[in-house]
Amino acid sequence: MLCKLSYKNELRPGLFNFIIDCPEIAAKAKPGQFIHALCGGSAYLRRPISICDAVDNRFVRFIFEVRGKGTAELSKAEPGQMLDILGPLGNGFDVSAPESADGDILLIGGGIGIFPLLMLAKRLPKKPAVMLGFRDKENAVMIREFSNVAETVYVASDDGSIGCKGFVTDMLKSKIASGAKISRIYTCGPVPMMRIVTDIAKENGIDCQISMEERMGCGIGACVTCTCAMTDGSKKRVCKDGPVFSGAEVDFDG
Ligand SMILES: Cc1cc2nc3c(=O)[nH]c(=O)nc-3n(C[C@H](O)[C@H](O)[C@H](O)COP(=O)(O)OP(=O)(O)OC[C@H]3O[C@@H](n4cnc5c(N)ncnc54)[C@H](O)[C@@H]3O)c2cc1C
Ligand code: FES
Repeated sequence: MLCKLSYKNELRPGLFNFIIDCPEIAAKAKPGQFIHALCGGSAYLRRPISICDAVDNRFVRFIFEVRGKGTAELSKAEPGQMLDILGPLGNGFDVSAPESADGDILLIGGGIGIFPLLMLAKRLPKKPAVMLGFRDKENAVMIREFSNVAETVYVASDDGSIGCKGFVTDMLKSKIASGAKISRIYTCGPVPMMRIVTDIAKENGIDCQISMEERMGCGIGACVTCTCAMTDGSKKRVCKDGPVFSGAEVDFDG
């Protein structure tokens, strides 16, 4: 469908924040779902981008990094321009209350994986703790926005230029070692990060939901470009069956 680009800004060089006027998508969107955007130029296939927020049953926000020709082309769109967007697509995060209510709900995001977690933090039954991991201070964005919707925000960076030096997974290990109770973890970010988070969750019997990323073709379950392996030996489509899966069911070696 055609949606008007209402607002655009650059959060840091190469990272674009778009707000589109799209009541049809905004009213239905759930955290963890994505839109599939036609980017223009020679990028014929749509590109998947997570829904970062949906407000007033009217506006949909998404944030994307310029990676290649599709996102570069999309970044040239200007407010007032109509964008061809499909959505909301995929299965989002389960926001129902976890079985064990006495523990933190923890959101763990790395790099461009932090964006879908903002809407998730807003829609959870209780304020979560949030752990955000960045390469360095220049790449750290949205910390204040997360602070507004989270109980606590912990920040880590690879080089220590902001927050703790190290990985978000180190912060998770420290939190568990300190005896903190965690009832559920939601995570989105680089696969190696999500793999460690999933392993830690399994070891500690914590329910864990992860948002997978794969290259996509159709985005609606028809082309099977985007499959990922499951521990039961099956393959699931990230676009239609996911992108959110239970950490326990994903086979990271598959
Ligand atoms: C469900 C989902 C949600 C996403 N949400 C966001 C988001 O909120 N913000 C954001 O910035 N990006 C997001 N992405 C990634 C985004 O879709 C890709 O960066 C984009 O499709 C790249 O298109 P391009 O034409 O610019 O680059 P291309 O020229 O197609 O590729 C450039 C580089 O990016 C790599 N790449 C392309 N697509 C993917 C992918 N899906 N996963 C991993 N590597 C890829 C390629 O291998 C290549 O190295 C998401 C992807 C998925 C599947
Ligand atoms: S992208 Fe076509 S089946 Fe997932």
